[in-house]
Amino acid sequence: MHIDRLERYWIIAVGVVFGAFAAAIVASVVVFGVHLPSPVGRIDPAKLAESEFAKPGLTQDSEHAYTLRMVAKMWRFDIGSKEPQPTIKLPAGSRLKIVATSLDVTHGIYVERHDVNVMLLPGQISQVEVLFSKPGIYHIICHEYCGPGHQAMIATIEVS
Ligand code: CUA
Repeated sequence: MHIDRLERYWIIAVGVVFGAFAAAIVASVVVFGVHLPSPVGRIDPAKLAESEFAKPGLTQDSEHAYTLRMVAKMWRFDIGSKEPQPTIKLPAGSRLKIVATSLDVTHGIYVERHDVNVMLLPGQISQVEVLFSKPGIYHIICHEYCGPGHQAMIATIEVS
């Protein structure tokens, strides 16, 4: 079969580009450990009161490690306080594990200036870890539209 010289160059160029794309995907997983946030468990939203989410809130696991258990609901993040927009305080250098689920509809968490972007689905437990190395005020924001109170779903992390 005859292939024109220029056509052959283009076939090679396209092959090289696709090869580079495929290599980038493989390298991101194997070398850099990039992975999609995935659920760590399933839970019946009607039975949260009998689960690890019965008493949401912050616990200290070790000197610099904390766990925040959180239930997203229309339209606030429940971390165990009555405040509509709760605040938690952490010392700088803390590693925070957020374990969260939703009581009702799809919510999400985005943590300002940190690499956290996770969906919270009813029936699913999501988990993410984030290091707060610098002092500051960082908001946890619901980033999935969840109804008329969506824009009020904010919690604050005060790192000092
Ligand atoms: Cu919850 Cu938007």
